[in-house]
Amino acid sequence: MAALQTLREWIGIQQFPPATQSKLLEILGKYKEEDVSSLTVLVMGKGGVGKSSTVNSVIGEKAAAVSTFQSEGLRPTLVSRTRSGFTLNIIDTPGLIEGGYVNDQAINIIKRFLLNMTIDVLLYVDRLDVYRVDDLDRQVVGAITDAFGKEIWKKSALVLTHAQFSPPDGLNYNHFVSKRSNALLKVIQTGAQLKKQDLQGFSIPVILVENSGRCHKNESDEMILPCGTSWIPNLFNKITEISFNGNKAIHVDKKLVEGPNPNERGKKLIPLMFAFQYLLVMKPLVRAIKSDVSRESKPAWELRDSGLASRRS
Ligand SMILES: *[C@@H]1O[C@H](CO)[C@@H](O)[C@H](O)[C@H]1NC(C)=O
Ligand SMILES: *[C@@H]1O[C@H](CO)[C@@H](O)[C@H](O)[C@H]1NC(C)=O
Repeated sequence: MAALQTLREWIGIQQFPPATQSKLLEILGKYKEEDVSSLTVLVMGKGGVGKSSTVNSVIGEKAAAVSTFQSEGLRPTLVSRTRSGFTLNIIDTPGLIEGGYVNDQAINIIKRFLLNMTIDVLLYVDRLDVYRVDDLDRQVVGAITDAFGKEIWKKSALVLTHAQFSPPDGLNYNHFVSKRSNALLKVIQTGAQLKKQDLQGFSIPVILVENSGRCHKNESDEMILPCGTSWIPNLFNKITEISFNGNKAIHVDKKLVEGPNPNERGKKLIPLMFAFQYLLVMKPLVRAIKSDVSRESKPAWELRDSGLASRRS
């Protein structure tokens, strides 16, 4: 699929103020140093949390169609842009929840779309300005884990949108951010069934994002969040750290697309156990019934039927 895309020059980078541009070019230099010529970022999360807007912010142009509602269809969008020999691929995906449940069809379409691609970074997107987490969040995390394996979380970041936000009741911004992040990180940990040893020496980074024009700017025209972070370069820095964090990128091969859930390979044994039960229990049982039937001179139903017949005549 990627091969069919003509490589488009990443001109959107020129939309950024010079200060941001030079930071981004510095980051691209890092990839060149490491001899890495492409990066694939997968963006997932519930609908309406700002996935497409985030893709557009990163690219610096309206590449992904933004829709507030879930009518956006089920197809993912691949946006590829090239700059001095380096290709950035970003895959925007539809929201995964429909009618209060995870839409398995959407997950399958995403998996198939990603066939033969390698996911270097997963951005799991949600909003900062929301106060609660619920079971639906756990379900979404669970569905992503079922689709790609729990290892994908070692290549992930939690992205919180709407970060130009004033917490209510004069709550401290950084305090609010850490409370909201911790709640969602906990959801990821439980939803992905990550054990302590899975996360040894590893924590999922949190990235704050503000896609609207509300974001404050400083004198060099850089978009600055209430915590003082210039968020675009920060986002690219975090993505770069993840891509070089030493954990394995997730290659989506045929087996991952069509095979059993990568976390539950053991469950394959269940049909096998049924087969054993059939051989050990059902087969002798069937044989016993058959021999029973042949031993009787006349099976019960035949006697009954002939009885009826004789009464009728
Ligand atoms: C994926 O890769 C396999 C093996 O390299 C190849 O046979 C297949 O055609 C590829 N599929 C797509 C959709 O690119
Ligand atoms: C704008 O903010 C960025 C990030 O904090 C900083 O690097 C830059 O120096 C600031 N520019 C000015 C003029 O304050």
